[in-house]
Amino acid sequence: MEINLTGLLPEALLIDLPEIDIQHEEIFRRIESLKLACIGSGPIPFEDFDSLLAYLKYHFGSEERIANELGIDFLDHAAVHRDNLQALRKAFNEVRGGARDVHSFLRYAEYWFERHIADEDKPFATKVRSHKATSGSASSVTAL
Ligand SMILES: [Fe+2]
Repeated sequence: MEINLTGLLPEALLIDLPEIDIQHEEIFRRIESLKLACIGSGPIPFEDFDSLLAYLKYHFGSEERIANELGIDFLDHAAVHRDNLQALRKAFNEVRGGARDVHSFLRYAEYWFERHIADEDKPFATKVRSHKATSGSASSVTAL
């Protein structure tokens, strides 16, 4: 059975910052891939979950880098990122320890991620665009 995992990011969740949209697509792809890998009675691919959490950390770092490059205050958003990662690590450790069902974790991760984009990244992208429009700069983030 061939399963197409491309184009998982719903259009409503595009934030119009290509670097970040591509990362969001990759995160959805990884979550979907984990859902498929966890169907049935095979072993849970713990290393792929670790890899997802590492990629989320990288993704948050990208957003922070963009904010720093443009001089956008990111303290509150960065605090949310730290809390998010901590909550996801805690939930995943519960899976690893057998206290939480892996599908419960994946449902939680997917729901959280959609909220992350809608509640945190969309307003962030608006700030980025507004900052670029008012500064008129073609700074080092023109590739965004
Ligand atoms: Fe994001």
